[in-house]
Amino acid sequence: MAKFKRTHHCGMLSLTNIGKQVQLAGWAASIRDQGGVIFLDLRDRSGRIQVVFNKEKNEKLHEKANHVRAEYSVRVEGTVEKRSPDTVNPKIPTGEIEVIATEIEILNTTAMLPFQIECQDELNEEVRLKYRYLDLRRPEMMSNLMFRHKLVQAAREYLDGSGFIEVETPVLTKSTPEGSRDYLVPSRVHEGCFYALPQSPQLFKQILQISGIEKYYQLARCFRDEDLRADRQPEHTQIDMEMSFVDVDDIIEMIEGLIRSIFKKTLNLDIPAPFKRITYEEAMLKYGSDKPDLRFGCEIMDVSPIVSQTDFNVFKETLSNGGVVRMLVGPGCADFSIKDMDELTSFLKNFGAKGLAWIKVLEGEEFKSPIVKFFKPEMLKQLKQSGNAKAGDVLFFVADHVNVACDSLGALRLKIGNVKNLINKETFHFSWVLDFPMFEWNEEEKRYQAVHHPFTSPRLEDLDKIETSPLEVKARAYDLVLNGTEVGGGSIRMHNEDMQSRVFRVLGIDASSAQERFGFLLTALKFGAPPHGGIAIGLDRLAMLLLRLNSIRDVIAFPKTQKATCPMTGSPSTVDEKQLREIHIKLRRE
Ligand code: AMO
Ligand code: AMP
Repeated sequence: MAKFKRTHHCGMLSLTNIGKQVQLAGWAASIRDQGGVIFLDLRDRSGRIQVVFNKEKNEKLHEKANHVRAEYSVRVEGTVEKRSPDTVNPKIPTGEIEVIATEIEILNTTAMLPFQIECQDELNEEVRLKYRYLDLRRPEMMSNLMFRHKLVQAAREYLDGSGFIEVETPVLTKSTPEGSRDYLVPSRVHEGCFYALPQSPQLFKQILQISGIEKYYQLARCFRDEDLRADRQPEHTQIDMEMSFVDVDDIIEMIEGLIRSIFKKTLNLDIPAPFKRITYEEAMLKYGSDKPDLRFGCEIMDVSPIVSQTDFNVFKETLSNGGVVRMLVGPGCADFSIKDMDELTSFLKNFGAKGLAWIKVLEGEEFKSPIVKFFKPEMLKQLKQSGNAKAGDVLFFVADHVNVACDSLGALRLKIGNVKNLINKETFHFSWVLDFPMFEWNEEEKRYQAVHHPFTSPRLEDLDKIETSPLEVKARAYDLVLNGTEVGGGSIRMHNEDMQSRVFRVLGIDASSAQERFGFLLTALKFGAPPHGGIAIGLDRLAMLLLRLNSIRDVIAFPKTQKATCPMTGSPSTVDEKQLREIHIKLRRE
């Protein structure tokens, strides 16, 4: 049996290897011929090292090296030497040394490259995804994959150490409602029947608690057919967990331990715990979001009582129609021009706002705004004081239905935070959002829907309101937020069939349809189901945020485009008639 000759990885070589004979393998990152001396930068997944071929010392070898081109796969033998001080390259970790070659073997050549691997320019993402293998060869992408691996290892180690058992659950399954559309897989054996790919392993992990597993985890693949964004993919991975005999605080404590352990092992950072806790209501009022970015202040206030006596028609009418007037103080925004204000106004229109009113705070008790005439000096003073505004700041107002006021001022807050550099991009700020409402009203479908999912337990003190005033019922749910992104969510579940059926009824799922869709869960709950709860952390999002990247596609080996396609494999694709016939599907061509 033969073994491949390789003694070291390129990036691992250092001054301690001086004088050592080494055997390396990798890709030619760059080749420069400088008058009789060829410098080949050899790259493998660990990094790169300079390899030197001197014509004077070994003409035959130099000639061989002369045939190497960028991205050929090669094997090199040589001796590690210290570089002379004037040739040290401080930009790379192996810059103080080089390998004087004694042998080179070309293992494979390359076709014409669609882009330069070592190129620093912004590359077209479609092309990157088509040639993903070359894209992943780029050091930053390779390092993202290695970081993700480290993160996963840290999570596994922590969970294993805390008594969690890893269990896999099926991918061909039945629909689990997580608020998105299902991917369906037609059955060949059962004509007209479909499997659904899981939006999450929610019901299986609950059922595992009824089995007595007590602490479950899985790196679970979840499939959701939804509109894609920078932090959303059709398939994503969750660090999915479920525990028996627990309440909210047990889960929060466990996750804080998990997160701290991940940060320590991947970034060597100590994240302070306990994380800040904030109720849903406070988050929506002060930050206009259920995933507030708490790296900066700039809080929104309800000023409806203060402006109730104003002559400004827009505010007056909104208040008399049951709406609210909310204010956000923009620090140092008085330098915004009329054009800036118009741009902000049209930006807020995307969030449903009908307009944006603003008042600049000047020195003394002076104010400047086209609408200042509608406000009495005493009212202006009160607004300024309650918002703690200073000269140079701007009071921004949105008068609207409470949801629109929240959304639009929440978006304005983030915009101002970015424009005025109020956000410390170096920090990692974790928080918990608690006390979510259990139900929300879906105006389009004229029915209540679950804010989390329909298996979340209501707060026990709200049980008698489930049927009478569902919108007042709070859920035993929690979301984990990092720097304004939701990285995790979960809840304590209903472990009692009665309560679960009551909740289904409020959601408009009658007994027979509950039986048809979730009968297996309702039956399982009858057999001594323990109190249980859990959470899932979005692994892709967490990795993206730890690496301070803007897209989860950069931490996923083979992601889909914004249009849910894979340019490399060409999926989704058509299939032939025979395959369709087998699964009893006839395409309707219109
Ligand atoms: P939820 O739907 O909140 O909860 O999902 C948990 C976390 O998964 C991440 N996530 C996504 N990441 C990338 N692309 C997506 N399309 C996507 N959708 C969700 C988010 C989110 O916080 N079964 C429940 C968990 C539970 O109750 O235990 C669930 O799936 O970071
Ligand atoms: P108008 O009376 O419509 O000309 O509006 C006067 C100012 O109030 C403009 O700056 C509008 O952008 C702003 N405005 C209009 N509607 C609202 C609203 N619902 N909330 C806050 N400001 C508004």
